[in-house]
Amino acid sequence: MDARLAPLGLAVLAAIVVSSRAATAEGNKSARASAPAGPLAGGMQRGPTGEGTHQEGAREARRNWVTPSVVSSQSPQEVGSSTELPSSGKFLIHTGVEATFASPGFPDDYPPDVWTSWIFQAKDAAATLHVTCPEFALGGQDSLSLRTPEHGRQLFFRDNLTPPAVSSRGRVVAQLRTGRRDHGRFRCTVRAELIREVSESDLPAVQVNDPLCGRTKHTTRIVGGEAAPKNTYPWLVGVTTRSRADMFCEGSIINERFVLTAAHCVARRKLWVLNVQVRKHLRNRDSEELRFKVKRVIKYPGYKRLQDDIALLELDGSLRLLLHNDDVRVRPICLPTTACGGGSGDACFGGRTAVVAGWGVNQQRPKAYPKSLQRVELPVLTSEACEASQPTVITDSMLCTSYSGGGRDACQGDSGGPLMVDTGKSKTTLIGIVSFGKGCGVPEHPAVYTRVSEYYDWIIENARL
Ligand code: ARG
Repeated sequence: MDARLAPLGLAVLAAIVVSSRAATAEGNKSARASAPAGPLAGGMQRGPTGEGTHQEGAREARRNWVTPSVVSSQSPQEVGSSTELPSSGKFLIHTGVEATFASPGFPDDYPPDVWTSWIFQAKDAAATLHVTCPEFALGGQDSLSLRTPEHGRQLFFRDNLTPPAVSSRGRVVAQLRTGRRDHGRFRCTVRAELIREVSESDLPAVQVNDPLCGRTKHTTRIVGGEAAPKNTYPWLVGVTTRSRADMFCEGSIINERFVLTAAHCVARRKLWVLNVQVRKHLRNRDSEELRFKVKRVIKYPGYKRLQDDIALLELDGSLRLLLHNDDVRVRPICLPTTACGGGSGDACFGGRTAVVAGWGVNQQRPKAYPKSLQRVELPVLTSEACEASQPTVITDSMLCTSYSGGGRDACQGDSGGPLMVDTGKSKTTLIGIVSFGKGCGVPEHPAVYTRVSEYYDWIIENARL
């Protein structure tokens, strides 16, 4: 990714968008850090959301805060039959029991400025706790946090695509934190079960353009080049060799077994050294990363240098469990099903704004690699303008982006990575694969991608499960 010359105005705009998000997260964090340890510790600052006139009421409300440490010091209550639990507390859930916990005042809305916590543990150490929240309508500033030893702390907000759900063999700590002006409600169930682990055959296969495809909890719109928030592009993978921590190329998950990348990334590599990195965010060592070996490389039969620069990597393991159970971090991207055919219709994406993401260089000379995933927003050229830019080289099976001011582009190391557009219903579609360019971010030289829509039939034929 190269965004050295991003115009200042746009860069500032991006900074505002980012910092307002960061401020929310920070606000929560600092509130947590300075939070009173007990329900009686009133009068402490909670964050920058205060309103002078409601100071008194807010202080009162703060007296009722129940933090996890408060609950943690309580002795647990046994829950031996399916029941509704109070709006805070520590509970030992018997096997087979399904209990309900809900926001204070449920089914009415909770009042503003709530902090309440629950701790759940299964009575039988071998049982698994399952928490799901069928009713979930929080205020804009509010969050439900679910912490487990397996998954750490997961925050759920109003805008989450899927309702909160977590399973754990250990203890689950739930916390509701709300802003001073917001209200809402939720109801969750917690169930203790002694069951075998879910196996792959219990879950449906994930095919190309599965209903799971292309969704992300983050917005895909951005301006200027910038670091992407974690998990923004859960289909993005690193393509690397088994001995390196970083990657030399990118790819995109399209179903439970196949990754789509550029043929030039893998054409001269030995199969047995290839690795695909999923759940990757940091360019170098990333503790969340999972690696897959590659069982088969299928290059497009016509691939030759810049032509038909597309290949499928068949993983030597299935992503099915991850795609179903870890969909925040691992998801397939949707593929365009209609060919452009060199024309100017909607299927050609001319004039659309797309996003490219990758771990490639931020700067060519001297070479500078980013620490984490980068992304940049770019206009897609019409097929005509694309072909005119390098008449003997560019074909109908390629697509170009070019930012008129220059400076924004994919660059060396971004190859194989996705060029994406929003295709409505919060779906993201893969329209291009980073292929080649003359320099990076040079306005006269548009960047060239493999036009994915022209290969749909080949992909379906070859990525069969
Ligand atoms: N072929 C390059 C690589 O191996 C990608 C170049 C993309 N260049 C560009 N200006 N968009 O990473």
